[in-house]
Amino acid sequence: MTTNRLERLTGLLPARMRGQVGAYFDALEVFMEVRDPKVLAALGPSGVRGLLLQRGKQGVPSLMRASHEAHFDWTYSSEHPEMRELYTRAKRGQWDADVVLDWTRSVDPLDPNVPILPDDFLDFEDLEGLLGVRLTAGERKKILHSLAAWLLSQFLHGEQGALFAAAQVTEAVQFFDGKLYGATQVMDEGRHVEVFHRYLDTKLERLYQINDNLFVIIDALMTDSRWDMKFLGMQIMVEGLALGAFGTLYQQTKEPLLKDLLRYVIQDEARHVHYGVLALREHNKQLSEAERREREDWSFEVALLMRNRFMAWEVYEEWFEGKLTREQWKGFVTRAPGMSQFRHVMFSRLVPNLREIGLISARMIPRFEKTGLLQYMGGLSADRLDGDRLVAELDRAA
Ligand SMILES: [Fe+2]
Ligand SMILES: [Fe+2]
Repeated sequence: MTTNRLERLTGLLPARMRGQVGAYFDALEVFMEVRDPKVLAALGPSGVRGLLLQRGKQGVPSLMRASHEAHFDWTYSSEHPEMRELYTRAKRGQWDADVVLDWTRSVDPLDPNVPILPDDFLDFEDLEGLLGVRLTAGERKKILHSLAAWLLSQFLHGEQGALFAAAQVTEAVQFFDGKLYGATQVMDEGRHVEVFHRYLDTKLERLYQINDNLFVIIDALMTDSRWDMKFLGMQIMVEGLALGAFGTLYQQTKEPLLKDLLRYVIQDEARHVHYGVLALREHNKQLSEAERREREDWSFEVALLMRNRFMAWEVYEEWFEGKLTREQWKGFVTRAPGMSQFRHVMFSRLVPNLREIGLISARMIPRFEKTGLLQYMGGLSADRLDGDRLVAELDRAA
């Protein structure tokens, strides 16, 4: 069924129901977008829980059954000097948000002189053209406030996923040096949950529910029994998404507390992705050809899902449901300058890491080319990009 026809049909329904049906069709579209049957089988159950049942939005805790094995090695053999080095760096890089961040600073999300997101993060003329009305300066600020709170809420939910995934991976991984390192990452992610929640709660005074697509990815990797799939999902894909989003927001925000907070978080995240690259580069060499292909396909499809599906639907539902069609909103968000930059920063981090861990073979090149991702192939992978360099690069490009 074409989108136009669909919109005409759903247009006949009352507004509330229209939203629900629109969301269902959107979910269906995700399933149809994933063309690889194996990937679909792997993501399917999580997709049903996240997209159709919207388990993240029921106002009750979500329970996800973990099924990995905890790996004990009683010999404690230290065989990975680079991981050990990261552990040492991580210990020294610990920070206390009570001490290093100035929480006494008052933040007014509607203050035009200290914007959380700049006006040109969105193309308001584009939006006004679609709506057929002009927005006041105050309305623009409120929409940007919503979008900033939505983005930061998704960071927070992602960080909760990262905290639990880091704990699982620390149990499951077979490298002793990796376990020690993992313990520091658990602490890092705990701190990230703390700071994003505190900023949202006390400064923006708003919290959005988890985006359905983010729920699907988190659910899929929490419940997968294979540690390397958790790793691929969290340390490479979700951390790549996070670095893209944190980096963009760090470059764009003029609010000093948020900028400081993000600088600290980015430094930690750079180590996390570095660890992911180290562990998977070694592990992936031992995979069978079929196993490697499965991971190639999975990571490619998840990358596209992250690109095509991170559409701030929750903000749409709050502000524009009934005024814009879902298709119009999608086009608007896709074209928005801030969101394009976010996708650019995300893929310039993600693609070189996939290359480095052996998941972009010759077979995949045409697919990367077709989707416009090949341009990022030559970038530096995370093992060669520490936190300071990453922040310096963001400062230079800002
Ligand atoms: Fe984190
Ligand atoms: Fe992380």
